[in-house]
Amino acid sequence: MSTQQEIRRLTAPDIRARKGGEPIVCLTSYHAHTARLVDRYCDVILVGDSLGMVMHGLETTVPVTLDMMILQGHAVMRGSKRALVVVDMPFGSYEQSKEQAFASCARVLKETHCGAIKLEGGRRMAETIAFLVERGVPVMGHVGLTPQSINTLGSFRAQGRDEADWEPIEADAMAVADAGAFSVVVEAVAEPLGRRITEQIPIPTIGIGASPACDGQILVLEDMLGLSPRVPRFVKRYGDLGPGIETAIATYAKEVRKREFPGPDHVYPMRPKARKKADLRGLSWG
Ligand code: KIV
Repeated sequence: MSTQQEIRRLTAPDIRARKGGEPIVCLTSYHAHTARLVDRYCDVILVGDSLGMVMHGLETTVPVTLDMMILQGHAVMRGSKRALVVVDMPFGSYEQSKEQAFASCARVLKETHCGAIKLEGGRRMAETIAFLVERGVPVMGHVGLTPQSINTLGSFRAQGRDEADWEPIEADAMAVADAGAFSVVVEAVAEPLGRRITEQIPIPTIGIGASPACDGQILVLEDMLGLSPRVPRFVKRYGDLGPGIETAIATYAKEVRKREFPGPDHVYPMRPKARKKADLRGLSWG
């Protein structure tokens, strides 16, 4: 009998069932190491296409490719055991047709083994979401500010700050829910709108710059750790890792230059037998 306790991963239906319940804790991760840490505390790990800006220094998420998402999605799956891993579909990999979306999502699910995908867009993506869900692809929606549309939006501005602008955003959230998504990210909307959408739709809302009333919250890990140079208003910094990392790198560089690193504890001695032989030959051990 195996003594190893099996750890069951959370699934999209588990998250769907949390509507109105205990808040759903989500963070992004793009690597196995951070995934291991995030996995201990979070219900959902999002391999966000924000990796293009955070890891690769891109100005927007538009240039991110499916191959980039698959590579990092696989890394996060290897680093985690319990959380539901959701991989973002990058710009251009799903908007052209339902068939294109299914082919891209199938690659992501097969090659990363993640539990769900996320895609941006409300009413315009509803038909595609329904097509994907019917064919076994769990979909997390994303409405409000949709960063992949930056070139038509013009800037990363909060949405729905005038009540007159609420209706289309509410309709987007409802369309995503009606299409069968198991949850929806609501990004950068006026707080009362985030609250209202959460009350209106039957699936969990995951807020980022939305409302404390949302069914869950998400942040980009590097933003909340204080590693990103610029962050939006909605980010709370829970850590300030930048200065600590810089001090460590500066100390390493100084010690290497002064030949203080590596020290005796960081090199491999010879095996005792070989050492004896070398001693006999009069070799010095420093
Ligand atoms: O790409 C991402 O990290 C995201 C989150 C900000 C929701 O979509």
